Amino acid sequence: MPQGNVRPQEMERITTQALAEAFIREQIEELRNQIGDGKVLLALSGGVDSSVVAALLIKAVGKQLTCIHVNHGLMRKGESEQVIDVFRKQLGANLIYIDATDRFLDKLAGVSDPEQKRKIIGGEFIRVFEEESSKLSGISFLAQGTIYPDILESDGIKSHHNVGGLPEDVHFELVEPVKLLFKDEVREVGRALGLPDSMVDRQPFPGPGLGVRCVGAITRDRLAAVRESDAILREEFEKAGLQGKVWQYFTIVPDFKSTGIKDGKRSFEWPVVLRAVNTRDAMSATVEEVPWPVLNRITERITHEVPGVNRVLYDLTPKPTGTIEWE
Ligand code: XMP
Repeated sequence: MPQGNVRPQEMERITTQALAEAFIREQIEELRNQIGDGKVLLALSGGVDSSVVAALLIKAVGKQLTCIHVNHGLMRKGESEQVIDVFRKQLGANLIYIDATDRFLDKLAGVSDPEQKRKIIGGEFIRVFEEESSKLSGISFLAQGTIYPDILESDGIKSHHNVGGLPEDVHFELVEPVKLLFKDEVREVGRALGLPDSMVDRQPFPGPGLGVRCVGAITRDRLAAVRESDAILREEFEKAGLQGKVWQYFTIVPDFKSTGIKDGKRSFEWPVVLRAVNTRDAMSATVEEVPWPVLNRITERITHEVPGVNRVLYDLTPKPTGTIEWE
């Protein structure tokens, strides 16, 4: 029941925030008990789950936590920069930043099979993480952003294809402070911890990142077209008030070209495909009915601002028959 002149929505918000704050207080206590004066390692991807775990651990054990952020070169525009800005500069975390872009892209060169691409990205991620963690001494705990649905789906370890997964032959005691929470509860905790909205409300992003949206064999120029077009799509969705309303939206650049005209001359360039879907559980999905003026504006910007692109298409396919990603 609303009390005084506090509106019901406001009540709900206050209650949720109070619950999140109580959870944070409890977890800090538990983490301190579990970890004592030990050292903890965390693979920080910048996704909601690992970010919330990092913020909790910073509160609980401060500099006893070391975060490793591996940039595989397949991140969205500005994402690694945001991880560094929030965790190193604002929260004062011990953060090791590894730019492994060349290593990943060299390994992926010429590989067009989607599952092979995923294997290379996942395998390389574990190798980089192991190399970096072996340089550190005295680590006895490994923190993970396991959430409740991960436990329901598998053996409790983040699914194998999710970059940021656990290296199997490293023997640390696990620290999993959000393992009993659902995604929306993790977001509430993140908000109560003061993480930025753009991090807390982040749409799902696959472990192999933009790699599965640069269809076929990844090239640096086509990858740049995926990254730049994705940034434009996100910017325009935010301006149109669609951010946080549409479940997942991104761009894809296929590995073929078509004819067009640019500056009065014939151009032979890539198309960019826009995808925007809604779903409950990602098993099936419907296509967002994006207003025509928004689609027009995005098309105008992508064809003028993204090098190598002369056409924009909107994917109207629900899941099934299409999957959400193109690979
Ligand atoms: P699909 O394309 O199978 O995608 O309809 C369903 C959801 O899963 C995400 N996805 C992945 N996430 N590693 C991940 O961590 C992957 O290899 C992967 N493939 C797809 C996809 O973005 C969508 O949210």
